[in-house]
Amino acid sequence: MAQPVRVALLGCGTVGSAVVRLMHQQAEDLTARIGAPLELVGVAVRRPNRDRGDLGLDRSLFTADALSLAKRDDVDIVVEVVGGIEPARTWLTEALRAGKSVVTGNKALLAEDGGTIHDAAAEGGADLYYEAAVAGAIPLLRPLRESLHGDRITRVTGIVNGTTNFILSAMDASGMGFEEALEEATELGYAEPDPTADIEGFDAAAKAAILASLAFHTRVTAADVYREGITDVTATDMASAHTMGATIKLLCIATRTDGGGVAVRVHPAMIPKSHPLASVGDAFNAVFIEADAAGQLMFYGRGAGGAPSASAVLGDIVAVARNRIAGHRAASESSYAALPVRPMGEVSTRYHVSLDVADRAGVLATVANVFARQGVSIATVRQSGRDASAQLVIVTHTAPDAALRATVEDLRALDIVRSVASVLRVEGESSR
Ligand SMILES: NC(=O)c1ccc[n+]([C@@H]2O[C@H](COP(=O)([O-])OP(=O)(O)OC[C@H]3O[C@@H](n4cnc5c(N)ncnc54)[C@H](OP(=O)(O)O)[C@@H]3O)[C@@H](O)[C@H]2O)c1
Repeated sequence: MAQPVRVALLGCGTVGSAVVRLMHQQAEDLTARIGAPLELVGVAVRRPNRDRGDLGLDRSLFTADALSLAKRDDVDIVVEVVGGIEPARTWLTEALRAGKSVVTGNKALLAEDGGTIHDAAAEGGADLYYEAAVAGAIPLLRPLRESLHGDRITRVTGIVNGTTNFILSAMDASGMGFEEALEEATELGYAEPDPTADIEGFDAAAKAAILASLAFHTRVTAADVYREGITDVTATDMASAHTMGATIKLLCIATRTDGGGVAVRVHPAMIPKSHPLASVGDAFNAVFIEADAAGQLMFYGRGAGGAPSASAVLGDIVAVARNRIAGHRAASESSYAALPVRPMGEVSTRYHVSLDVADRAGVLATVANVFARQGVSIATVRQSGRDASAQLVIVTHTAPDAALRATVEDLRALDIVRSVASVLRVEGESSR
């Protein structure tokens, strides 16, 4: 039996404590799978004196000095489940440069400054694995970075934030509004006390950047991702989606663009109920990948939570431990394609626009004319009257997002348009 593979754990919160439990529960099998036992040689936390007796760890293992632990000579693998940009970036770059393998779930850091972390891994000849950073337990990054490397991925569409999916699923099922659904999500523990990162789409944008980087062999950062959250989605929007045989999901979408670039975005969108992502309910995640040869693939499962994320972390630990024993490292970051990231205005999308208009002759023609002026073609129009006003619901064909936005601005300026009640993008096939 080979010498133990020595692990330093940075962070022992929701994910870290689940990693410790799984390491204990699976110890024998992990040893057999790796060919050597895993040994936890230190745990860095913010409050080392806090009672964590339930984990069955010796108190002497705990420290508040993560950097010193990460650089210790008797550490082979650094597992970082603290989060945030600094000091995590310093810990990981120093550990990698010192040749230690790193396993992390830190999507924020990888999306903001993944280049620095990957460069440090290349410098130190060390492994960098981060399966838990996107979609928790779902094996997704390894398939992208290994299994699909012989193919050409054209599009990745995902539901990668459980909180917002829970909220939108509740709105879809019960007709409740956003605020009420958020309250329910908070009560049930699906939403943080400060839910901004989830409901404003920051968390999904970080994951979108990581997915796009892997799918298109191009460094994409969170700042490259167009982002809109779900706070403006109303019960009326959801009802309107139902009328179209659709629902509303917060999607992350990464595509190749016509001019040879990539575009990455996160925003709520209507998708037909027949689309595989429409049936992903509750706090589940799913990612739909389209590739030239493989066709369509869908990955589905629990995107967050201690145990599901620990499953992904342990999978990575086993992989890097095996690599260390075999004396090799996995292929480094693949960013050779270096495709340009195109702005949202150039992305082709479809809009669902709901207008409150004056109920008089010629309104429809005036509105249609605004669309025509911007070169946007209308797919369907629905009209319903209400006293002196009427509601017009227009779904467009595909057009550049900039033209669709300009159309909406022009509509707002019309006298006969009392308000633009809602604007949502439409994804998937149906334009009913
Ligand atoms: N939660 C999930 O479902 C999930 C899923 C996938 C990925 N992730 C990612 O995993 C990471 C951790 O998430 P989490 O939910 O487990 O967080 P968490 O429950 O808040 O735990 C954070 C841990 O980091 C420790 N810590 C904080 N600042 C520190 C410092 N300066 N030095 C040393 N230790 C420090 C904390 O110590 P104390 O215990 O003393 O407070 C705690 O143990 C994040 O990057 C997150 O994005 C989380």
